[in-house]
Amino acid sequence: MMIALGADHGGFYLKEEIKKHLEERGIEYKDFGTYSPESIDYAAIAYRTCNSVVGGECEKAILCCGTGIGISMAANKVKGIRAACCSDYFSAKFTRLHNDANALCLGGRVVGAGLALEMVDVFLDTEFEGGRHQRRVDQIMAIQDGIFEG
Ligand code: RB5
Repeated sequence: MMIALGADHGGFYLKEEIKKHLEERGIEYKDFGTYSPESIDYAAIAYRTCNSVVGGECEKAILCCGTGIGISMAANKVKGIRAACCSDYFSAKFTRLHNDANALCLGGRVVGAGLALEMVDVFLDTEFEGGRHQRRVDQIMAIQDGIFEG
C-alpha cells in the first residue's frame, strides 16, 4: 500500500507525525510537501497529492492543513477524489465503510497527534462495505460527472 501525504504549513507538523507512524507500521508513503513550516497555499498541495491517487501511483491520500477543511475542499475538486475532513474516530471509520473515501483530511490545529494517528489507522485499515453504499457512492460520482439524474 502506497499512501500519498500532503500538507500546508498548518498541517506540516502533523504530517511529520504521520510519516513517523507510517514508518513504524511499515507502510510506504510519498510526501508531496510541504517540506517546511513556511506559509504555503494548500490548493496546489491537494492537487498534486490527489493526482497521485487518481493516477494510480498511490492508493489513498492523507492531507493536513490548519483545519483540514480548505485542503479537503480543494481535494474534492479533483476528479475521482472523495475526501473526508474528520476530527473523530467514528467518522474516519465510517467514511471508509460507507463513502469509500480515498482521502482523509485532518486539521493540524484541531486534533492532537494521538487522535490523528488513530484516525489514520482506522482509515487505512477499513474496507468499503459496498452493497447499498455502492449505489450512493455512484450517485456522488454521477454528480461529479454531470450525469446525475436526481
Ligand atoms: C492557513 O493559515 C489555514 O487557513 C489553512 O491551513 C487551512 O486551515 C484552511 O482551511
